[in-house]
Amino acid sequence: MYRINTNYQKLPGSYLFSTIARKIAAFTEANPDRPVIRLGIGDVTQPIAPAIIEAMHKAVDDMADASTFHGYAPDLGYEFLRSVIAQQDYQSRGCSIHADEIFISDGAKSDSGNIQELFSADCRIAVTDPVYPVYVDSNVMAGRCGEYDQETQTWSRVIYMPCTRENTFVPEFPKETPDLIYLCIPNNPTGTALTRAQLQEWVDYANKNGALIIYDAAYEAYISQPDVPHSVYECSGAQTCAIEIRSFSKNAGFTGVRLGFTVVPKELSCGGVSLHDMWARRHGTKFNGAPYIVQRAGEAVYSPEGKEQIKKQVAYYMKNASAIKQGLKENGYTVFGGVNAPYIWLKTPEGMTSWEFFDFLLERANVVGTPGSGFGPSGEGYFRLTAFGSYENTLAALERIAKL
Ligand code: MLT
Repeated sequence: MYRINTNYQKLPGSYLFSTIARKIAAFTEANPDRPVIRLGIGDVTQPIAPAIIEAMHKAVDDMADASTFHGYAPDLGYEFLRSVIAQQDYQSRGCSIHADEIFISDGAKSDSGNIQELFSADCRIAVTDPVYPVYVDSNVMAGRCGEYDQETQTWSRVIYMPCTRENTFVPEFPKETPDLIYLCIPNNPTGTALTRAQLQEWVDYANKNGALIIYDAAYEAYISQPDVPHSVYECSGAQTCAIEIRSFSKNAGFTGVRLGFTVVPKELSCGGVSLHDMWARRHGTKFNGAPYIVQRAGEAVYSPEGKEQIKKQVAYYMKNASAIKQGLKENGYTVFGGVNAPYIWLKTPEGMTSWEFFDFLLERANVVGTPGSGFGPSGEGYFRLTAFGSYENTLAALERIAKL
């Protein structure tokens, strides 16, 4: 008789954004005359930039002609995309990353969920708290997190590194030594970032303790301050202790197109085994490559026109971020983030829990955000708003909040 992976049964409730989607659906069904403004999930709203659309159209035409048709993509990604990434995202910033260390995928969510497969089941993971839920949930599914304590909302084998206003959202080195350290900079959900000097300390810590950093840089395009690093490889020694995950969702609006990549440096090895070879083996076995049309779209992100157009899009969302931050402050809220990331992290008012504030905002203002506690126990008492809405909706949401 077959048996299931019982680790799935340990997961409490459903995936955070699925729970929120269900709550919105129930509210909308009960209140069809009260349109909801969604500033919850970090999903983009602006259309794909013209230079990228043009490249996609051309790639579609390529598929219509036998001489330019493309079948299975190389499972590690097309050279044309891997080399432009290596040059523009890394070498231009002084990082010694080469095309053959870049693995193209269908997005950062898949990669950040899958990467844990390379590691032993007894590895201890450390996460900043609050944290993007995929890191913990995917490790729970693999049986790496121990038991869940409903009361403290923590997993017995996960090392939590609280990031709150008290430590200015900068994680401290944990008392227990982790094997795998997840860092998302700029951070989802708090919208805060680390400086290059602070990240260097983490790289040194990982190298000293034989730990691996899984560095999620999905929000890199939103960095506005010069001392915030765009890549972990800007820190010396990162090539021997860090894997970096990137997305095209937030910089180029590919949430519905799907494209991302992971950098596994060739220098990374564990007990003489190359992590690069392991990830290549995994890709070769379980993945047939991101579609040609989508990889051509990704290439256009790096064209002069593409870069110019997506820069404007990022600026559009960051204008929303400033408006949210300013508007909330004027209404007496305590707010963080929104400078190097498209997320605003606010203290819930009047001691409300995160979910109480979620319900209050939905019921009273018909505005949806994301409860901080959904990202981990230290997120309790906080709430996240995304800057990815349209400017009009963002202002309308602020007006409704101001009337509360
Ligand atoms: C979020 O809202 O945290 C993100 O959109 C989720 C994701 O990127 O998968």
